[in-house]
Amino acid sequence: MIQGIDHIGIAVHTIEEARGFWESLGLAIEAIEVVESEGVRVAIIPCGGSRIELLEPTREDSPIARFIAKRGPGLHHVCLTSDGLAADDVALRAAGVRLLRDRPTRGAGGCWIQFVHPASAGGVLVELSEPPGEGPEGGA
Ligand code: CO
Repeated sequence: MIQGIDHIGIAVHTIEEARGFWESLGLAIEAIEVVESEGVRVAIIPCGGSRIELLEPTREDSPIARFIAKRGPGLHHVCLTSDGLAADDVALRAAGVRLLRDRPTRGAGGCWIQFVHPASAGGVLVELSEPPGEGPEGGA
């Protein structure tokens, strides 16, 4: 079941160039993490109960670099919090929704994550995330 908006991911050329606007709103970068496997540097900006994530590519062949090359910087994905990603995964497949991964995988911070293809979500890349702890059956 979906519980709320976890974060909104925004593709940027560089965090340094993009951060000013968000800081002018009174928001602040809490942390910057590099996720080497995804070729991305992530600036985490808490915003109420959720957060904005600025996604800067660290190499030319990363998914974020390819996204920016194709579409320019901008909204990349919306992430929803799930309290049962394994069940959501099964239900979405049964409903004919196209998922990007064969099953939920581990993401940043040990969260379980899955992605819905934009073709199944009105043109929006939707990430689903379940906080670490329980985790989907048979995940890993
Ligand atoms: Co995300």
